[in-house]
Amino acid sequence: MNITIINGPNLNLLGTREPGIYGNSSFESVLQQLRKKYGNVNITYFQSNHEGDIIDRLQEIGFGDADGIILNAGAYTHTSLAIADCIAAIKTPVVEVHISNVHAREEIRHHSMISRVCKGIIIGFGTDVYRLAIESFLSE
Ligand code: DQA
Repeated sequence: MNITIINGPNLNLLGTREPGIYGNSSFESVLQQLRKKYGNVNITYFQSNHEGDIIDRLQEIGFGDADGIILNAGAYTHTSLAIADCIAAIKTPVVEVHISNVHAREEIRHHSMISRVCKGIIIGFGTDVYRLAIESFLSE
């Protein structure tokens, strides 16, 4: 199975960014643990702070042989019609994830532009959301 994880803006700062909300682990360590746990899953990873780069990567992967995409679009979740349009256009299913429970935070984070076009959403379980998203593809 081939799964790609895409993280959006500021998620490169995991581990140092607002640890009370996002935890103390860097994404590199989360990724290392996932690759160790799921030796039979080919997990590729991409992070960008730029909306267009995220769209380019979604388009590249979205017509290829990946079985699924796990997307944490960061703040673009709440603003990006362009990312939503891209998810609707590609073939590969996308699971939306958020480390924090966005519904327990500021109102501006309660709305997602992308949920409507995603296969499912996993929110608020810390960095474990990435593992849960992998499980969702494995249990298909
Ligand atoms: C986030 C939640 C977003 O509201 C925020 O802008 C992020 C991270 C999360 O994983 O909890 O950058 O997507």
